[in-house]
Amino acid sequence: MKANRTAPIVLKYFFISLIFSLLLLLLFSYQPHHRNPPTDDPEPSDEGDLRIRPGYSTYEGYIQRQLNKTLNPKLRNLWTTRDWDRKINVFSKFFTDLKQKGLLKNESKALCVGARVGQEVEALKRVGVNDSVGIDLVPYPPLVLRGDFHNQPFENETFDFEFSNVFDHALYPSKFVEEIERTLRPGGICVLHVALVSTVG
Ligand SMILES: *[C@@H]1O[C@H](CO)[C@@H](O)[C@H](O)[C@H]1NC(C)=O
Ligand SMILES: *[C@@H]1O[C@H](CO)[C@@H](O)[C@H](O)[C@H]1NC(C)=O
Ligand SMILES: *[C@@H]1O[C@H](CO)[C@@H](O)[C@H](O)[C@H]1NC(C)=O
Ligand SMILES: *[C@@H]1O[C@H](CO)[C@@H](O)[C@H](O)[C@H]1NC(C)=O
Repeated sequence: MKANRTAPIVLKYFFISLIFSLLLLLLFSYQPHHRNPPTDDPEPSDEGDLRIRPGYSTYEGYIQRQLNKTLNPKLRNLWTTRDWDRKINVFSKFFTDLKQKGLLKNESKALCVGARVGQEVEALKRVGVNDSVGIDLVPYPPLVLRGDFHNQPFENETFDFEFSNVFDHALYPSKFVEEIERTLRPGGICVLHVALVSTVG
């Protein structure tokens, strides 16, 4: 992976199952957009350039499917046992790199969006970013609070840093992004890790 020139071996190991991966660094110099806040029960709609995730006709169906996946006991057990240390090490290296680039500080208030069992939240804390929390449909206290990334349970301008590697799980990508823009402070930074499949040879 060319993009991982400076990344440690362990990152390559992490990404080995991905056909292709791309790190998107989106630096939001937040400008108020004056958009409508997301509703509690959005109807599927045309998202312009970004399409609704295929395979879902309703928001409820999508949520149910995501809940089923997140609550799967086998997966959950795997995430909290075999995967736990390995993923935390990978994330710690990743966040340390972002700190060295000045994108993340110990004092940053950080949010991990779609954090499952909170491996990335734990990693942030371990590298010194103590004020870190995650959200997901299923909470995993104390690391992960209950929250839908289409409708974040936070006030405007709450965080300095937001990270997610589940952007591709969003039913409404534009709401996902709008909510990040809304809850980031001015000058806040968002890092999305996105796996691109079958778009680049
Ligand atoms: C929060 O931000 C949204 C989107 O920018 C805006 O529509 C809303 O009025 C803001 N709410 C408050 C309480 O400032
Ligand atoms: C979720 O799982 C339950 C049982 O575990 C099943 O009855 C239901 O059909 C599943 N729903 C979806 C949307 O996959
Ligand atoms: C940030 O926190 C880490 C881990 O606690 C610590 O080693 C480091 O010195 C801190 N950096 C600064 C600039 O305070
Ligand atoms: C962050 O937490 C660590 C471990 O609990 C502690 O040693 C450190 O002083 C804390 N840093 C800040 C800035 O609160």
